[in-house]
Amino acid sequence: MDDRFNTIAGWVLFAGIIALGLSIVSGKFFHADKPERPETLGYVIEGVETEGGEAEMTMAEALNMEGVDASKGEQVFAKCTACHTIEQGGANGIGPNLWAVMGSQIGSHVPGYAYSSALVDKGGVWDWETMDAWLKSPRAFANGTKMSFAGLSKIEDRAAVAIYMNEYGSNLPVPEYVEVVADSETEGDDAEAEAEVEAEAVE
Ligand code: HEC
Repeated sequence: MDDRFNTIAGWVLFAGIIALGLSIVSGKFFHADKPERPETLGYVIEGVETEGGEAEMTMAEALNMEGVDASKGEQVFAKCTACHTIEQGGANGIGPNLWAVMGSQIGSHVPGYAYSSALVDKGGVWDWETMDAWLKSPRAFANGTKMSFAGLSKIEDRAAVAIYMNEYGSNLPVPEYVEVVADSETEGDDAEAEAEVEAEAVE
């Protein structure tokens, strides 16, 4: 009886080892299947701004994206016309006229408009970056602003509407976007090479 029990126990143990072995091997295959994953991680680690989750596109990148242009910006601007005009000499609404706002001093380009002190005290100039931050969340940018607008969550929309505004009385140069920084490119290649080595080891 004891002998038989030992034999059964032996087989059970053996089966367990096989199962473990299989799961390790399939785990390797799973990785080998997805060589792009380590590559992506490489970028994320090098990423300009990461706080868990995907690295967000930079404004420079969004401004140079295909389809991000003044005509797309005009569509987005439909969300603004309840409060803003943009033509030269246009009337102030709830918000100030926005002719030539890009490149102007924050909270002062329409003399006589009663800006909130939150915006006036902010200081600085409306460039691509400040406009991006403002349109993403006016309240986060200038706490206490009287622009009661939740913000544009998509960076493509913010970029497009900034390009659109830039064509009305401003003419700021659009920043160039350089595809990948030399450093992170090296990182990416390394990760890819590692993935390849891992894949080879499995074969
Ligand atoms: C509900 C009304 C409202 C909407 C909608 C709105 N704004 Fe405004 N906007 C304001 C007000 C009010 C101010 C003045 C804010 C202050 O003084 O704090 C302002 C200020 C601004 C300024 C700063 C102007 C300056 O002279 O410094 C910009 C730029 C701007 N808005 C752009 C936009 C864009 C682009 C949109 C649409 C995506 C938009 N706004 C939607 C009410 C609005």
